[in-house]
Amino acid sequence: MSSRPADAAVLRTDRLLLRRWDPADPADVDFLFDTYSRWEVQRFIGRVPRVMEHRDEALARAQAWADRGDEPPYGIWAATRADDGSRLGSVLLKSIPASGPTEPLEPSGDTEIGWHFHPDAWGHGYASEGAAAVLAAGFAAGLDRVVAVTNPKNLASQAVCRRLGMTALGLSDAYYNATCALFEIIETSK
Ligand SMILES: CC(C)(COP(=O)(O)OP(=O)(O)OC[C@H]1O[C@@H](n2cnc3c(N)ncnc32)[C@H](O)[C@@H]1OP(=O)(O)O)[C@@H](O)C(=O)NCCC(=O)NCCS
Repeated sequence: MSSRPADAAVLRTDRLLLRRWDPADPADVDFLFDTYSRWEVQRFIGRVPRVMEHRDEALARAQAWADRGDEPPYGIWAATRADDGSRLGSVLLKSIPASGPTEPLEPSGDTEIGWHFHPDAWGHGYASEGAAAVLAAGFAAGLDRVVAVTNPKNLASQAVCRRLGMTALGLSDAYYNATCALFEIIETSK
């Protein structure tokens, strides 16, 4: 009897199933639009925060994420509830660009973790639970350091960093040509 290899891009926790976003699934695109069209989600994201105004932007983002072809442990996951599949938000593990004079910015060589959840999913520990699983998979795959950059005013995101055991390194201009509150976590169990 042959068994299919487990999909390394799917992660499971007590309450969550994390999988890739699917640009061909209209419900995925609707959810992304509903999330990123909200100012309370976007206000701390990017150097010049702006909300999505058209569903086509969400489709383009889902397609761009699929086209990245991220291989585990890297990826941009849809965090969903394991029991009913309802969508909660995104967790990202990716190369982070260094600050610099040219666009697109050059890779820094570092790996960042990030999280963007729908406001209906805030306050349940889902972002921390999903990010912990992504971080653990990253360390299991051999990463030894992961950073997170947050808007200095984004206390909710900084709380997620702390729940993950990340260390606050203060303000930094090292990434994205922006001043961020920088966090890091180093794998020490090897
Ligand atoms: C940053 C963000 C993901 C944080 O979401 P969050 O739900 O507060 O974070 P967590 O998943 O860690 O949940 C923690 C909260 O759930 C509560 N909680 C409830 N049940 C819980 C459980 N079983 N386990 C852990 N926490 C639980 C905690 O008490 C805490 O609530 P509090 O903030 O009122 O103290 C969310 O605010 C967001 O998506 N913001 C918009 C996008 C953004 O800014 N992203 C970051 C860019 S750097």
